[in-house]
Amino acid sequence: MFHSPVSGVPIRRLFSTTSRTLSHDNPLGLPKSGTPPTFRSRRGMPEKRKIRDVKKVVAVSSAKGGVGKSTVAVNLALSFARRGIRTGLLDADIFGPSVPTLLNLSGEPRLDENNCLVPLTNYGLKSMSMGYLLPQTQADSTGEVPMDTTPISWRGLMVTKAMHQLLHSVSWGPLDVLIMDLPPGTGDVQLTINQEIVIDGSVIVTTPQDIALRDAVRGFGMFKRMEVPVLGMVRNMAYFACPNCGHETKIFSHGDGDHCHGEESGVLAQCKRLGVDFLGDIPLDAKVCEDADRGMPTVVAEESVERSARRQAFLNIAEQVAHKIGLDWK
Ligand SMILES: Nc1ncnc2c1ncn2[C@@H]1O[C@H](COP(=O)(O)OP(=O)(O)OP(=O)(O)O)[C@@H](O)[C@H]1O
Ligand SMILES: [Mg+2]
Repeated sequence: MFHSPVSGVPIRRLFSTTSRTLSHDNPLGLPKSGTPPTFRSRRGMPEKRKIRDVKKVVAVSSAKGGVGKSTVAVNLALSFARRGIRTGLLDADIFGPSVPTLLNLSGEPRLDENNCLVPLTNYGLKSMSMGYLLPQTQADSTGEVPMDTTPISWRGLMVTKAMHQLLHSVSWGPLDVLIMDLPPGTGDVQLTINQEIVIDGSVIVTTPQDIALRDAVRGFGMFKRMEVPVLGMVRNMAYFACPNCGHETKIFSHGDGDHCHGEESGVLAQCKRLGVDFLGDIPLDAKVCEDADRGMPTVVAEESVERSARRQAFLNIAEQVAHKIGLDWK
């Protein structure tokens, strides 16, 4: 007989006990509607409020992982910052913070006189990330700093507490806009953020494939339920432009071609169906990835490159977002 590696209880007994005691309409007893659980208002519950000294908050999100949320968030934030718009970038990904790498920043933030964390700045963009608060790995004998192997394995309560601090204990100074790079999913972190602060708009990032788009559409549903305006959808890795001949290839199925999903499918069709603006395409481009990895995102890396299509793609999206939230785009 098999035994549970954790409890040592025979597996069969575990299953039979479970099936006897379940009385819910599905195995986990979760609500079928997908509606976030509502909490009775009681003393001590956080009240939704604006982040101090921050005029607008924009969340960059997608329920799907790895579609380019952080890449879009940092390039969006830098597009604003490089135009003189006072901008901050908050990395809300507690388990996999990307902002320190993307902005080539590290080191422990200092505390100001009110015990608030002072953001770290690069390229004129202020930023805060869980990654700055973790112990730093030391350089080895070759002078290289090895990648950190320490996992961030926290339970819900710790995550909520960390999130709470990142939301309320950062001294941003006056900001016109704070861009929030959200982790994948539609769970704890997203709900906590929405419970605690006013989000002025969200940008949903997807890639062309059906499998990513389905999750992006779920992300749309989450913001709708939370009554956060969805500013639009971005299609990242939309096509590959050959660096030699310039020919554009749609690497991933767009739901409108040979893969036969028909007109009801694809990012554009979903935007139309949901009544969401399509903000634009970002090409799949090795340079975008390279720039991100070396901590100088494309918007900055190609500032002096005339007619950089990849930089322009980010700028076009930033301009639309700026107009939608009432920022002055000069
Ligand atoms: N347009 C692009 N062209 C080439 N590479 C890209 C592009 N967009 C993102 N990438 C690369 O894809 C990887 C994933 O991107 P990113 O970290 O921004 O995704 P994410 O959605 O934030 O992921 P996670 O869900 O883990 O937070 C990174 O290596 C990034 O450099
Ligand atoms: Mg990310």
